[in-house]
Amino acid sequence: MDASRITLRKFRPTDADDLFSWAGDDRVTRNLRWKTLESKQEALTFIREVCMPHPWRRSICIDDRSVGFISVFPGSGEDRCRADIGYAVAVEFWGQGIASKAVKMAIPQVFQDFPELVRLQAYVDVENKASHMVLEKAGFSKEGLLRKYLYLKGRVKDLIVYSILSKDESI
Ligand SMILES: CC(C)(COP(=O)(O)OP(=O)(O)OC[C@H]1O[C@@H](n2cnc3c(N)ncnc32)[C@H](O)[C@@H]1OP(=O)(O)O)[C@@H](O)C(=O)NCCC(=O)NCCS
Repeated sequence: MDASRITLRKFRPTDADDLFSWAGDDRVTRNLRWKTLESKQEALTFIREVCMPHPWRRSICIDDRSVGFISVFPGSGEDRCRADIGYAVAVEFWGQGIASKAVKMAIPQVFQDFPELVRLQAYVDVENKASHMVLEKAGFSKEGLLRKYLYLKGRVKDLIVYSILSKDESI
């Protein structure tokens, strides 16, 4: 994959068909808190009601077509020093370096867009080795194991917490 084809941009209503093609796939949503989308109409509603008002959600695009997402949710008040990051890529594009590139692209943008943010963090299922690799390649540090931390799709999960600080970002 030529890295110049990968871009991040805000979602648009015209992404509904492309969004449905990957967010309607249980293999993509399995590790996310998202419910798998069931129709193109639901994808359109999701773009309008969830993606567009989101504080920082971008479509990962190849040649400007949506093949995934990356989102950052900043804390507020005393928690505004940190934000959670999440992402996914359509199955047909797995293993081509797209998520790693997208996360690397997002990091400086996010620290610029939220000036009080100093910590970007991710919680990842211990079994989700591809996601561990994405974060490690993007410069995140593994901080530790959170045992039996949450119910995800009905199963209690052990999670690994990763972080990157604004001061690490230029490394
Ligand atoms: C996790 C996910 C985003 C990775 O996307 P991707 O574009 O395939 O990731 P990349 O190609 O950038 O990198 C993945 C790395 O993990 C490695 N990898 C993939 N599957 C792996 C596995 N089962 N075990 C170990 N490493 C694995 C790849 O080899 C690659 O490393 P490399 O570049 O050194 O070869 C994708 O699998 C996905 O969308 N999963 C479902 C949603 C999800 O889990 N999101 C994360 C929630 S925290």
